[in-house]
This record gives sequence, C-alpha cells and structure tokens, in this order.
Amino acid sequence: MTVRKPFVGGNWKMNTTAATAAQLAVDVACGCDDLLGRADVAVFPPFPYLDTVGKHLGNGVRLGAQDLYHEAEGAFTGEVSAGMLIDVGVGVVLVGHSERRHVIGEGDELINCKARAALGAGLDIILCIGETIEQREAGQTQQVNVGQLMAGLEAVAADQMPRVTIAYEPVWAIGTGRTATPDDAQAVHAVIRSTLADRYDGAVAESTRIQYGGSVKANNAQSLFAEPDIDGGLIGGASLKADDFVTIVTAAAQASS
Ligand code: 13P
Repeated sequence: MTVRKPFVGGNWKMNTTAATAAQLAVDVACGCDDLLGRADVAVFPPFPYLDTVGKHLGNGVRLGAQDLYHEAEGAFTGEVSAGMLIDVGVGVVLVGHSERRHVIGEGDELINCKARAALGAGLDIILCIGETIEQREAGQTQQVNVGQLMAGLEAVAADQMPRVTIAYEPVWAIGTGRTATPDDAQAVHAVIRSTLADRYDGAVAESTRIQYGGSVKANNAQSLFAEPDIDGGLIGGASLKADDFVTIVTAAAQASS
C-alpha cells in the first residue's frame, strides 16, 4: 500500500495585512519546522503579499497562490498568470475553490483551463471540489463531486498527477462551523479515489492526496485525518491563527506516523 504524506494548506483568503501576513508566515514557518518530515505544508496568502510571505517562510513551508488566470500574458486586466506566480516563488496554486465557483461564478471549463495552464507552467495544483447543501439534500453529492473532478482533470495526463492534490470542500461546511463528520467526509473521499482509479489507474488513485476542507479546527482535525482516505486538510479560518494551524499540522503529521 502506498503511504501518502499528508498535506495541509492554509488558505488565508482575503485576510491579513502586509504586516500580519509577514508575522503569520514567520510563526507558521517556525511552528511547522519540526513537522515537515511527516507533513507537507503550504500557505496561500493574498496576491499582494506573496512576495513578502515567501521571503518570511524560508525554504520549508511552501508558498501557494489562491488562483491564477490561464493565459500567459496580455490584455486581461486584474488577472495573474502562472509565470508571474512562479516569478515570486509560488510552487502550488488552488484552482476551483468554492468561493471562485460560487461567489465569483467560475465554471468547470474555466477551472480546467486554469488547471492545465498551471500544470503546463510547472506549478502544482490543488483542485477543489464540493457540493452545496441543496445538492447534498437532493442526493447529488456523489454525482456533483465526480462531475467536478472529471471536468477539472480533463486532458490532465497521468504523468502530471503527482503534481495534483484534490481538496474535497463541501460548500455547506466552509466558514460555517459545520464540519462534515469523519464518516461523511471519508465516504466522499473514497468515491473520489475510486473515480481516480477509473479515470487513470490504481497507482494514480493510491498516490494522489485528497485533502478535506470545511471548518477544520484544532479540535476536530485529528478525527478527520484518522480516516484512511483523508490525507490532510485545506484550512480557512483556523489557518489565520498560527497556533491553531500548527496544531492541525501536528495532527496530520501524527496521522502519518
Ligand atoms: P474554513 O476552514 O474557514 O471553513 O474554510 C475552508 C476553506 O475554504 C479552505 O479553502
């Protein structure tokens, strides 16, 4: 059986200032230093702070971006390309985050363009998927997640999959304090993994990391990460407090040992 190294991401969303972002980077880097052998860690600050956060992180915790645009350059006012992200030290980028889908209005086709552009440029990606509460209550959880997964990975080759992480983030659990139960999350993660086996092969399915996101906190991370198909988490609110985030990374590191 493949042993997957857990991966924890801190998605800072549209929070922090230049000063608090720099301090948070220092505190996260320091707090995670001893844990990086057993868990991969990345933080995803707002675009304007990428450069400074990268400088404060040092070499261990990875620098991530929350989004990108799929064109390389040109008249795309307000957008940021993969090459620009790489220029400031970004190694991994979120694509298809719930708030991009449901607040900004991005669809599967655009998300797939972004995924392919990021991978093509050499970035790693975290492809985020997840159902709304209406879809869950209508019994469409599996169908929605499989659909977003397949669409997001359209034309992504098996040899690119080592650079792909999937984040299952049920929309109803994000920022609500209403975490999916470990059983509910595990059930969807297992479906995602078997979909990867069908779409690629067993080796890709076994080695791809699948994070859970949605109200992961210091006090519930351990039970979520104990599930066999949950390989770490994508953390919003709790990633803004270094102590809480380090506790969550510790839970992931312990789950792997
Ligand atoms: P919360 O942890 O604040 O629920 O956010 C989850 C999320 O959207 C991470 O990308």
